[in-house]
Amino acid sequence: MIEIKGLTKRFGALTAVDDLSLSIGAGEIFGFIGPNGAGKSTTMKILACLLKPDAGEASVAGCDVRRHGDRIRRLLGYMPDFIGYYDDLTVDEYLQFFAAAFRLPRKTRRATIDGVLELTDLTDKRDAMVASLSRGMSQRLGVARVLIHDPKVLLLDEPASGLDPRARIEMRELLSELARMGKTLMVSSHILSELAEMCSSIGIIEKGRLVYAGSIDEAYQRVKGAERIVVRLERADDIDLVATVVAGKLAEDARVASAKPDADNPSLIRVELEPGEHGHHFLIEGVVAAGGRIAAFEPKGVNLEDAFLRLTKGAVQ
Ligand SMILES: Nc1ncnc2c1ncn2[C@@H]1O[C@H](COP(=O)(O)OP(=O)(O)OP(=O)(O)O)[C@@H](O)[C@H]1O
Ligand SMILES: [Mg+2]
Repeated sequence: MIEIKGLTKRFGALTAVDDLSLSIGAGEIFGFIGPNGAGKSTTMKILACLLKPDAGEASVAGCDVRRHGDRIRRLLGYMPDFIGYYDDLTVDEYLQFFAAAFRLPRKTRRATIDGVLELTDLTDKRDAMVASLSRGMSQRLGVARVLIHDPKVLLLDEPASGLDPRARIEMRELLSELARMGKTLMVSSHILSELAEMCSSIGIIEKGRLVYAGSIDEAYQRVKGAERIVVRLERADDIDLVATVVAGKLAEDARVASAKPDADNPSLIRVELEPGEHGHHFLIEGVVAAGGRIAAFEPKGVNLEDAFLRLTKGAVQ
């Protein structure tokens, strides 16, 4: 449904999207994950025909963004990251405005708007002023607005940003419902865990380049084993020195990604292992060999957020 090949977009000297290729099948929920400034919004704006690419190809349902903008606009709903509400309108007037803008037949407008209000759970708020809505409600109104012309493909730019955990779950349910209705969704987020678990596939983008594309399970597999351990040393007068020596010794081991004394409490050494099954014995031996005395040894498991940060930096392949 969405095909991108070698897409490149520059703003002056900055390459915001850099030779990006990805493919999203019909009915998928594709999570487009990346840190601030990665190029997510720029890519989505190109797909929505709001920006012109400098090089490469992008198409939606077989329609090229350069040549078939009109067709794409009809079959695609784009929810920008900042919606720019019309604050002096009620929810109903706001949706009426977009129904008119999309030239929906007058006879069916009422039923269409009632349908999207119901789907987004905003029926009770139809007469509320747009400005009075909570963040969660206004994000749902953003989704309602892009559903007005019943598009096949939805591009949602950070629909869950700023939502509390409950509102995020509601957003997740809404997006899953849209997928069940047969729509194809491309959803951006800078936090992997925010929505990605409901995604059928994800792409991770960093500095305009795709660093990962595939299933979320595979992504979890790849980062498996990036384990963290805290070693607590017995207190001593020269603890700063001992901790520095021990951490330095551990960091020399190829299985150790990093080992550093905690900035606030030097008797704690924070260790992160390279991905893989290494066990802990070598660490204990390493501490002792460097002259450290272990008071406690605490495996902390795998920190997925950190692991994905490493993935976005291309550190984990
Ligand atoms: N109109 C513009 N003019 C100049 N530079 C731009 C413009 N739009 C985006 N950029 C730059 O392109 C890069 C990518 O921006 P983009 O908005 O696509 O990132 P993003 O992944 O959506 O980030 P965020 O998570 O912050 O929304 C950034 O460095 C940004 O400053
Ligand atoms: Mg953005």
